[in-house]
Amino acid sequence: MAIIIDGKKISQDVRNEIKEKALHLKEVRGIIPGLAVILVGDDSASEIYVKRKENACREAGFLSKEFRLPADTDEKEIFDIIYKLNRDETIHGILVQLPLPKQINPESVIEAVDPKKDVDGFHPYNLGHLFTGDAFHNSCTPSGILELLDRYGIEIKGKETVIVGRSNIVGKPLAMMLLKRHATITICHTRTKNLSEVTKRAEILIAAAGSPEMIKGNMVRQDAVVIDVGINRLGNGKLAGDVAFSEVSKKASYITPVPGGVGPMTIAMLLMNTLNAALI
Ligand code: GUN
Repeated sequence: MAIIIDGKKISQDVRNEIKEKALHLKEVRGIIPGLAVILVGDDSASEIYVKRKENACREAGFLSKEFRLPADTDEKEIFDIIYKLNRDETIHGILVQLPLPKQINPESVIEAVDPKKDVDGFHPYNLGHLFTGDAFHNSCTPSGILELLDRYGIEIKGKETVIVGRSNIVGKPLAMMLLKRHATITICHTRTKNLSEVTKRAEILIAAAGSPEMIKGNMVRQDAVVIDVGINRLGNGKLAGDVAFSEVSKKASYITPVPGGVGPMTIAMLLMNTLNAALI
């Protein structure tokens, strides 16, 4: 049976460390890390995420500013808020919660954020620097995955690593981050032929395709490390990952559960990026 990676515990450890560092930063340099969150419209999942981010900020001793705008807000209004926050010295991180309503182009909004304050790591400046060297900020979910691997002492260097999913938020940046850590990377997606042949090669398998329980036991190599990034709401209201946990956990050496695996790490890494932004 696999060792279950406890993302809830690790995220709390990271958050406690951040809280201590923030306290030190306040005492020594008089700086309080500040995060501004912009939420447009009334997407119910986004409401929950934004609440969690604000609570996490408060708990870590950060300043948290919140901008809630109606669904029919136009782009200009959002740009004006972002430009003001770019100049606001009390704010070190700016996060625009996605998805945005249809009339707003998410790429333009993301590009309006000062890359130094882009604590989501979504700005093309930061994504470009992830390819060529060091970005100011890396995307939070991939950073959270690396943090879990590191804190469980799982070696990345030289490992055959397969990522299922090619999103700009997880699959693509994660591939670059793992490559920098000397993993051998394969990215798979819906058009990959013989997917299970590829996934079976993986010493580290990362499922980030957004398809409930698509990774079955017979797609996984014996003793693989399996990281499940999926959060899928099923018809019965239950949460499921991208990995069929009960089958795969019998074969894996380590596995992340859903919930309580990768999910809680994202907010911890957002706080880490905001703390780092306060230090830039
Ligand atoms: N919507 C879902 N996940 C995220 C995230 O990590 N950042 C932002 N800004 N929006 C999201």
